[in-house]
Parts: sequence; C-alpha cells; structure tokens
Amino acid sequence: MKISIIGCGYVGAVTGACFAELGNEVCFIDIDAKKIKKIESHQSPIFEPGLDAFLERNASRISTSTSISEGIVGSDCSFICVGTPSDEDGSINLTYIKSASEEIGDALCNMKNHTIVVKSTVVPGTTEDVIIPILERNSAMEEKKNFSVVMNPEFLKEGSALHDFFHPDRIIIGTNDEHGRKVLEELYRSFPCPKLYTSIKTAEMTKYVSNAFLATKISFSNEIGNLCKKLDINVYEVMKGVGLDHRIGSQFLNAGAGFGGSCFPKDVLALISLAEKNGERPILLKSAMEINDHQPGRLVELLKSRVGDLNNKRIAILGLAFKDNTDDIRDSRAINVIRSLIDYGANITAYDPMACEPMKKKFPSVIYCCSAAEALKDADGCLVMTEWPEFAQLNHEFNNMRKKIIIEGRRILSCEDYEGICW
Ligand code: UDX
Repeated sequence: MKISIIGCGYVGAVTGACFAELGNEVCFIDIDAKKIKKIESHQSPIFEPGLDAFLERNASRISTSTSISEGIVGSDCSFICVGTPSDEDGSINLTYIKSASEEIGDALCNMKNHTIVVKSTVVPGTTEDVIIPILERNSAMEEKKNFSVVMNPEFLKEGSALHDFFHPDRIIIGTNDEHGRKVLEELYRSFPCPKLYTSIKTAEMTKYVSNAFLATKISFSNEIGNLCKKLDINVYEVMKGVGLDHRIGSQFLNAGAGFGGSCFPKDVLALISLAEKNGERPILLKSAMEINDHQPGRLVELLKSRVGDLNNKRIAILGLAFKDNTDDIRDSRAINVIRSLIDYGANITAYDPMACEPMKKKFPSVIYCCSAAEALKDADGCLVMTEWPEFAQLNHEFNNMRKKIIIEGRRILSCEDYEGICW
C-alpha cells in the first residue's frame, strides 16, 4: 500500500518506518525541512532505538516531501501524525491539526477514495467536528462518498516504540466508513492482536482513557507508597502482592518520582478540561495530577531533611530524561526538582546518558557531567530521577560523595545504602 505520513515527530517517524518495514511505500511529509533532510539521509528525526536501521533498510520504499499536496498524491491513505500540544488551561491546541487538514483537503480534489487516518491524540469529537468539516470544505467533497476518515490511536512507548508497534495489545479502528475500514484491515492484516472496530469518538476516547488509567495507576502507587514509607513498609513488596492479582496486573505500579513525558500529563489535563467543559467534576483525574505534581517536591524535602540547609550544598542529579532510553525531557520530574533545588540555593551537578543537551537549554547554571561518577564526586547529596539501567551498576562511585546521602526516585539502584522516596 502507498502511505503518506503527515508530521515526522515521534509518532509519525515511528509509524512510517514500521509501515515501510512491513513492505509498504511510505512518503514522509513535514514542513520542517531539517527533519525531512534527516530522513533522506536515513537518520531518524527523533531518538528511538532501532529507528535509523529501519529507515536505512527500507530506503527504497521511502520518499519525502515538505509539501502535503505534493506528498500525498498517489497514496492510498494519509496518516495525520502532527502534534497536539496543551494550551494554558490544559485543553489541546489544534493549530497543527487544522492546518494539516486544510492542506489535505486542498489536495483531495485530485484524488479518488483516499483514506485519512487520524493518529494524533485528539479529544473526542475533534475528528468529526473539526477535521472532517475542514476536509469537506477545502476539497468541496463529501466524507464517505468521496473520501474516508478513520481514527486509529497509537499506544507507543518511547524507548520501546518499534517493539510496541509490532506487538500491540490491541488495534483500535474508529470509523463508520466501509472503505476506510477495509483499508485499515488490509494495513494491519498481519497483526494477530484483537482489533476493535468502534465509532470515531470511541477511538478518540479510548486513547485518553488508556493513558489516564495508567497515569492514575502510577499516582495510586505513589499515594500508597507515601503512606507505606511512614509505616516503614516497602511499597514495592506491597505492589508485587497487589499486582499478581490478574484483575489489577503488575505493570505501572512502580512508585517513585511520578510520571512525565509527552503524553500522560498532557492527556490527563486534556481529559480534565474536557470533563469540566461538559459540566463534570473529574475528582479522580485531578487527584492523579495533584499526587504527581507533589512527588518531586517530596523528593527535595526528603533530601533536605537528610542534608540540612541546601544553600551552597552540592547536589548530584542522576537522570534528566522523563524515563530511560530517551533524550526527551518533556514534563520530566527532574525539571521540577532542579527548579526547587535552585530556589534553595543548591549547586547542582547532573548526569544523564542522553538528556544533558536539552536540559542545558532550560537550566544553563547546572553543571552537566559526562558520567555519574563525575556528578557524584564531592556531592553532599544525590537524587535519582530516571530509571536508566546503567544506574543499577553504580556502587563504589557513591563513595566519592562528600556525604553519602542518596535519595532514590525510581528504585533502579542495586546498591543498598540509599533511601527511597516512598519505600
Ligand atoms: C505513554 C504510554 O505508555 C503510551 O501507551 C502512549 O502512547 C504514550 O504515553 P511514554 O510516555 O512513552 O508512553 O512512557 P511510559 O513508559 O508510559 O512512562 C511514562 C512515565 O511514567 C515515565 O515518566 C515513567 O517513569 C513513569 N512511570 C511508568 C512510573 O512512574 N511508574 C510506572 O510504574 C511506570
């Protein structure tokens, strides 16, 4: 099949490369010429393990364009993968969705039976109330009669996105259009997982609810963890017992510094905003956010209670990315921690295998180190903020601290002499 990918950020780059790997012809389209240049030289525009190799291996099936109208001509379907950032009030900003829809609409008049697939995370109602009307207006054509629209949310985790693409738990195909349904059926034919055919709105909602539930699961563990710490109980042992109940499941019960990233905080806030706009009081979702917002502060307060006044103290931060295997610092818990350590007058040394560069732009006063050992040397305290596997190997490096006060936000260390944020 011939597929065009509109928007070569995280979702677009991964989705396009994986469809190419499956034997499809893929045209990557982005207004950012730098991203397109990278793809042309078989380099991923974002960091994701294994993605460069996919782009290289499938180069003969990959083309690129900086123009939607040029890029989508001749393709069977277009995946809208542009970003949906948050506005101040938490609601999603549809600027990129709207401009992509306008351009696709303009190009549609030259095409027959094209299928437009919405991959971007959009709040329920967006596809039908915003995207389809724009497509119809700009093309002067009718949905279902002249073109098809499908909502097909992504569930890719950064760092394991290629694996997640090929081994999904389920595929959600939201459409009320027979042709669109057939195109997606064909595209995902080789996937053995359950495929759920739903309305467009249900597909949109399923994405938000999945992320909101996982985020709530983490906040639940953190609330229980905070209590467990007071009672001298290890929350990880508790959650092991809890998670073995199949009705609950063992994943996303890791207590710690809380959730960050480009999806969980943004999606929970968007769902809160949607609920409030509809006259509901989303008590549980707001609590999940509140617990998450407090975890970084709890880490810093715990450190302060052990180190004392933090003014002019040297504090090492291990991990800046919002999780391991990525250079992404969006909504990383380390940001809140650094901000409050700076307010306390601490001198910060930081190490992350991949995320020092992006954090440098936000906090130039922090000393960025090339290794954990360098960051730890002569430190009065240490905070572990990201679950990088390499931190599990650290041991003697902590002996070079001025005071060996280690506060763990992720439970990744294997050395014994640290204290967990909530265990
Ligand atoms: C998430 C969803 O998992 C994915 O399905 C969706 O499509 C995009 O958003 P991602 O943001 O890449 O993926 O990362 P994820 O692995 O889900 O972790 C999110 C955050 O939660 C990280 O900060 C992580 O450290 C934290 N986390 C995760 C916990 O604090 N505890 C856990 O048990 C699991």
